[in-house]
This record gives sequence, structure tokens and C-alpha cells, in this order.
Amino acid sequence: MADNVILVGFMGAGKSSVGRLLARRLGRCFVETDDMIVAREGASIPTIFATHGEEYFRAAEAEAVRLLALKRGDVIATGGGLPCREGMPETLRELGTVVWLGGDFASLYARAQRAGERPMLAGRTRADVEALYRAREPFYRRADLTVDTSALGPDQVAARIALLLAERTRGAGAARAAGA
Ligand code: S3P
Repeated sequence: MADNVILVGFMGAGKSSVGRLLARRLGRCFVETDDMIVAREGASIPTIFATHGEEYFRAAEAEAVRLLALKRGDVIATGGGLPCREGMPETLRELGTVVWLGGDFASLYARAQRAGERPMLAGRTRADVEALYRAREPFYRRADLTVDTSALGPDQVAARIALLLAERTRGAGAARAAGA
């Protein structure tokens, strides 16, 4: 397996800030699928949505995932909607350990409102956004590991993930030693 660490979760989960901190902690490179798309398209995410629409953006995300197959050992932050297609959680798990940055909806929504320009929030009521979250949750749930970020800062979340990854590696080592 390609040994990347792939962060998934709803808008406001802190994937970018946690990813950056985690990469530093683990001494790995940090990559964001949104940045890959922006670089390739030469346009911001809101401009891509406004010019070409959501389906075009989703196709660009699928292309970004194909390019992730070249990555080894990186920390990768994905856009909030990227894993939410049939088959995508499984594809991501082939590329590395998938970590869901979860939390209660109210905390995620408050954070998502605060930071950045997000086309998926524009013109949507809180109830609309909650419905989107509920529809996406089953996809996030297919991650290998989950961290509840509701009451934690980005550095605490990064520390927690580093711990879970270390435990997982130890567990895999012990299973190998036992001939499992
Ligand atoms: C999206 C989330 C965004 C970005 C795009 C679409 C979504 O990323 O990929 O605006 O569909 O939830 P963040 O989750 O980093 O905000």
C-alpha cells in the first residue's frame, strides 16, 4: 500500500490546518487536492464552480485522485465532497490510511462559516447544509480511523492522529510477528 495519510471530512473539519501540522509532525510532504485542481485549472475553486459548475469540479477531483496514485508517504487533505461518490472511499483506502475528521454538525458548521469562500455553502440554509452533511456521513464513515474534532484545536487533532497511526503500525507489526 502507498502509505499516504488521507484526511477526509466535511467543510470546517480542519483538514488543511491539521494536515499541515500533521505533515510537519511526521516529517512528510503535505498535499491538498483543492490546490492540485486550482494549479491545474489556473482558477480559484469559486471561479471553477461559477464558470463550469459542480460536475466539472467533481471530474477534476476524480482526476486529482488518479494523480494521487503517484504519491508515497504524503499527508493528503481532500475537499469535503471528494470521498462522497460510490467507490471513492475504497479507492482512497487503496492509496493510504484514510482518517475522518468528524465532529458534531454544529461545530463543523460554525467553523465552515468562519473561514474561506465556499461555493457549497453559498445560497444554502443551515438545514440544507445539514442535509448535505447527513448524506455525506456514510461515505466519511468508511475511513480507517476517526477523530472527533468538535472540542479539539488543530494541533491536538494532529497529535491524536499521529498517536492513532503509531498504534496502528504497532498493531500491524505485532500481527505480522504473530504470523497473522
Ligand atoms: C467542497 C469542499 C471544499 C472544496 C469545494 C467543495 C465540498 O473543500 O473542495 O469548495 O463539496 O464540500 P473544504 O472541505 O476544504 O472546504
